[in-house]
Amino acid sequence: MTTSVRRISVVAPDEAWLAALRRQPPHITVEQALASGPYLLTLPLPPGWNLLSWETVSPELLLQTELPHGTPLYAPAYASTVPAQPDLTKRPGPDGTGEPHREQAPPETPVYRHPQPADLHEDQATVLAYGRDIAQVASLLRARLSVLVVAEKPVVPHLWREMASRAGLRAEVLEEPPENDDDGEPEEQPRPGDPLVPVQQNPRQRLLARLRELVRGLNDDTVLVVQHLDLLAGGADGQLSPEAREVTELLHGAPERVMLAFAAPSLSVPEVLAERFSTRVTITGVPRTVWFRDDQEEQPLGRALVTVREAERFDRYDPIEFYKHVAGMNPVLLRQAMRYAVSVHKDHPAPVARDLYSTIRAFKAQMSSNFEVPDVGFDDIAGYDEVKAHIQRAIDIVMGHHRLPPEHDHLRTKLIPRGFIFHGPPGTGKTLFAKAIANRMNATILVVSGPEVMGTYVGESERNVREIFAEARRNAPSVVVFDEFDSIASRRSEHSDGGTRAGNAVVAQILTEMDGFRPEVPTLVIGTTNRLNLIDEALLRPSRFESIAIDLPNDEARLKMISLHAAKFGIDVSGGVDELIASALRGRNGDDIHSVFRDAFVAAHFQDPPVPPTPEQLGQIVGRLQRKRREQRRSGRR
Ligand SMILES: Nc1ncnc2c1ncn2[C@@H]1O[C@H](COP(=O)(O)OP(=O)(O)OP(=O)(O)O)[C@@H](O)[C@H]1O
Ligand SMILES: [Mg+2]
Repeated sequence: MTTSVRRISVVAPDEAWLAALRRQPPHITVEQALASGPYLLTLPLPPGWNLLSWETVSPELLLQTELPHGTPLYAPAYASTVPAQPDLTKRPGPDGTGEPHREQAPPETPVYRHPQPADLHEDQATVLAYGRDIAQVASLLRARLSVLVVAEKPVVPHLWREMASRAGLRAEVLEEPPENDDDGEPEEQPRPGDPLVPVQQNPRQRLLARLRELVRGLNDDTVLVVQHLDLLAGGADGQLSPEAREVTELLHGAPERVMLAFAAPSLSVPEVLAERFSTRVTITGVPRTVWFRDDQEEQPLGRALVTVREAERFDRYDPIEFYKHVAGMNPVLLRQAMRYAVSVHKDHPAPVARDLYSTIRAFKAQMSSNFEVPDVGFDDIAGYDEVKAHIQRAIDIVMGHHRLPPEHDHLRTKLIPRGFIFHGPPGTGKTLFAKAIANRMNATILVVSGPEVMGTYVGESERNVREIFAEARRNAPSVVVFDEFDSIASRRSEHSDGGTRAGNAVVAQILTEMDGFRPEVPTLVIGTTNRLNLIDEALLRPSRFESIAIDLPNDEARLKMISLHAAKFGIDVSGGVDELIASALRGRNGDDIHSVFRDAFVAAHFQDPPVPPTPEQLGQIVGRLQRKRREQRRSGRR
């Protein structure tokens, strides 16, 4: 064996299995030895090793109970399908005597099936997924530099433990105050030299008092860990809360001490406070490949963070394809999604990879109070074939359906439309199109009404936008729809009065968010409006939003809509009835057409006595619609 070969460690669940492993004959292959019991490895088995002899490899044998908590374990990878208890006597040897193979030639390209972990906890998943970032932060801390990490809340406890331990520093952690303030404990007594401590402290004040104490106790071997700096001292610049001011003073007051603080991506930390940290590291989503620290190898995420059982549950599971469906999730959420997917498909006979992806999508929608799984497809939209074709091309680029030659792949980000603005009269299917796009992308969708985004307080609208986008990334692939986009994205010139200045800030925030898009976390923004002329031109630059007109349906589109809705409600429009309705409804929108068939359906099923949907009845409904419209017009003119 050459020196480049690493040792493997085989883990047995108990003494008996460990003893069985020790008794393995030296000449059998690693594959055969490992297949003889419930053995696991601390690293994926290197390709081809399964075919080497047990004696050559002489693995390190470990007991599972003695491993440090958090050690990921891997099922052995086999080159061929091996029975759980291989009957060695059944395999004829090269001499035909029934002796096991000794010198079995490795196949030219060994099939590397499962370098997947057998089991994986959320903390292990976090440490594996963010291995590079953790190493980077640990080396900064070792160099006695303070770091501000922007990361989602669920991963924070796993991150700081590993970062501090790899940096060789003891963590002094600022803990959250207990939920219930009345814990019966005596209030902390002020010490001599302390600023006056109020007798009754609220949780934030107690946290501050604790922080003061921790900072005072720091030394060269410790790192101060603040898990949620944004909650402790959040807010925008220029309006520092008293707490934020105090935290800022406290942390700046100990410049020689090493600090590690965390903030959530959607919340902001005042700049004066952020400046206390020499470096800012942003950790979002999961990486495409995972880097093994002890093993210079890269593994696709779908292999490193998905267990053998999970991968085997879904037929045609592809670890490379997997990434696209979870790119924006954090590792903790990803593990929860996988557990959920396995439990949902527990009793299904043969789920396939596609089922896994739809379940992940449903999970994201469930985890988010806002995002949902759309139920509209392109088939539910009649007409507008050109718009459909145009949108399909864009989706193909966003989703990476077209393989580009490697030398052009860097152009992909430049080809991706960041968003669309659908403009046209009301009821023409703009929202419908947005939902169908989300469905085509296998994406989750959030439809927000523009006015809802606009807050009353300074900075509130921007924060709403930041939160929407942070959640959109987590749920990627995702589509964010701003209905009545003109209400938030109006032209700057429209806002010359000070009162509506927030409009500009919101546009700026949306642009910032859109400029930060990563192609591997597909998030598409769609604005819909009836008044394109009001939209800020900055948003209409070709690299940002592409505007697409969705006008009133033409004759052909109306006819198609009529057959679509008629079929949906089970109403007969044969014998030219469809054409009559189509011509009567010239100038009307899709919503009107839909309402004709909805009304006919209601009359046929819920009216007493029921009115069957005959051509005459349909004619009456269309007539009523026309009259109503004329009345509306007249009252509108008045
Ligand atoms: N092209 C179409 N094909 C089938 N149905 C349509 C079409 N366009 C509109 N509809 C019907 O009209 C309803 C309303 O459409 P939608 O909400 O998408 O309109 P909109 O353009 O977003 O309107 P608004 O500008 O008022 O928000 C849909 O639920 C659907 O029933
Ligand atoms: Mg709409």
